[in-house]
Amino acid sequence: MPTIAIVTGASSGLGRELVRRIDHGDAGAIDEIWVVARRPERLDALVRTCSKTVRPFCLDLTDPDSYAMLESALLETPAARVALLVNNAGAGSFGDFAGIPREETENMISLLMRAPVELIYRTLPFMRPGSRIINIASVAAFLPQPRLAVYSAAKRFILDLSRSLDAELGDIDIHVTAVCPKFMKTEFLDAPGDAGAAQRMTRIGFESVEQVAQAALRAAKAGRSLCIPSADMKALYALTRVVPYRTALAIERAIGIL
Ligand SMILES: NC(=O)c1ccc[n+]([C@@H]2O[C@H](COP(=O)([O-])OP(=O)(O)OC[C@H]3O[C@@H](n4cnc5c(N)ncnc54)[C@H](OP(=O)(O)O)[C@@H]3O)[C@@H](O)[C@H]2O)c1
Repeated sequence: MPTIAIVTGASSGLGRELVRRIDHGDAGAIDEIWVVARRPERLDALVRTCSKTVRPFCLDLTDPDSYAMLESALLETPAARVALLVNNAGAGSFGDFAGIPREETENMISLLMRAPVELIYRTLPFMRPGSRIINIASVAAFLPQPRLAVYSAAKRFILDLSRSLDAELGDIDIHVTAVCPKFMKTEFLDAPGDAGAAQRMTRIGFESVEQVAQAALRAAKAGRSLCIPSADMKALYALTRVVPYRTALAIERAIGIL
């Protein structure tokens, strides 16, 4: 009866750090870590460097077949129990909406919204009281963001989905945590699209994947529906809930983020 943690986007950045911590025991008793991403060599490196059993799934999560493949693997594993699902895989394109190639936008929609919904559907039957879901959102979810319009809307979707699912499932002690990191120095920013827009937005500053991964696993363990790891972004979140959108945009323009 293996107890399984599934981490998407495990081949770099925050996902890889989460796998490292889960391997060290930060998510409690886990027998197997199932890691999902497109680059096989990166996943093989995780198999070699982790002490727990790591099962690589080389899948493109914009492809609907990938969800069925993961579900089949669970069905074929006798008495599989999913203790943790981390929907972390993500990519974002900065720039004017009309200037972003349609295919990139479709990929963001699939990867950031459809894939988490599908994976939650397909793993829930394998969860038990005590199981946890972590959905990686972003501080971009706090406010609609010009020049990051689809990405920020998708992150708002996952933030709201997480909080309502947490309220639904909390009674059976399955908790869903939305994690809202600010910028992290990962491959996420390697091909941002409009580099100028990305550079302006990163003026809000960076935090480390180590900090975010640690905060995310702690919040999930505690059954919290929202995790904002950095103190300044907690304050920003509080502000966005009271300040009208037009005023918030004016502030962002004044401090040179937009
Ligand atoms: N870095 C930031 O500034 C920042 C800030 C806030 C939130 N976030 C969020 O944090 C999460 C992790 O991002 P990161 O910063 O760690 O970026 P990253 O280093 O670029 O990692 C992204 C991961 O997602 C995987 N991925 C991308 N497209 C995929 C696809 N179609 N199918 C399967 N896997 C795919 C990548 O693996 P392969 O390329 O091997 O498929 C990689 O493992 C994302 O949800 C991102 O939106 C990032």
